[in-house]
Amino acid sequence: MYLEAVDISKSFDRDGETVTALVEVSFGIEAGELLGLQGASGAGKSTLLNIIGGLERPTSGYVTLAGLRLNDLSDNELARYRRNTVGFVFQSAHLLPSLTVFENVMLPLIPVQMPEAEKEARVQEVLETANIGHRASHLPGELSGGEQQRAAVARAVVNDPDILLADEPTGELDRDNADNILELLVGLNQQGRTVIIASHDDRTLALTRSRLVLGAGRLAPHE
Ligand SMILES: Nc1ncnc2c1ncn2[C@@H]1O[C@H](COP(=O)(O)OP(=O)(O)OP(=O)(O)O)[C@@H](O)[C@H]1O
Ligand SMILES: [Mg+2]
Repeated sequence: MYLEAVDISKSFDRDGETVTALVEVSFGIEAGELLGLQGASGAGKSTLLNIIGGLERPTSGYVTLAGLRLNDLSDNELARYRRNTVGFVFQSAHLLPSLTVFENVMLPLIPVQMPEAEKEARVQEVLETANIGHRASHLPGELSGGEQQRAAVARAVVNDPDILLADEPTGELDRDNADNILELLVGLNQQGRTVIIASHDDRTLALTRSRLVLGAGRLAPHE
């Protein structure tokens, strides 16, 4: 099993009140899967993606990815895991406004030991893959929402991550741009990457090979 979640629970304490986001969520997927994570607002989709991506730790339970047990990692090791193994795409592109598209996509490569020319070639390559190479020298503010999101996908894969986590990646896009992004994510999956897409949009989820349904933090029985 490539990714395994075992009895993941997560609760947040807010002003003495406990908010339960996930309750004993367990599932496993093989490498190369295209998984849809479905659920209403507040169901726990982002929380689950964040735990898989090492942005948050579960309250109990554990995740293993390619045999690596995330609970056992120190904060530094978890940071390295996020940098090397995972790519994130969020609802908003979150590009740095003062850097060009090229520079934004270069950012994850800065700590990587690699000749500069190789890094630049790699950035150009993923920009082409995301069909945004022609905007490399532009600032994010000069791009449409769909173009910004394509740049964000390029940034997410520039480090060649094993697993790509997309949290409502089309939530702010019109239909054409959404289709564009989904096509891109499906293509990245077809190249062998594991992709998980959280969404409450049926059209998005229709593309995924398998699906998990979350309701109030619990996994529904498989469809
Ligand atoms: N940092 C936090 N502190 C307190 N509560 C939180 C925190 N993060 C998430 N929650 C709560 O956990 C539950 C699950 O939230 P989550 O963001 O995972 O849902 P979601 O399925 O991604 O929803 P949406 O579709 O609106 O993005 C919600 O009730 C939310 O309020
Ligand atoms: Mg969310």
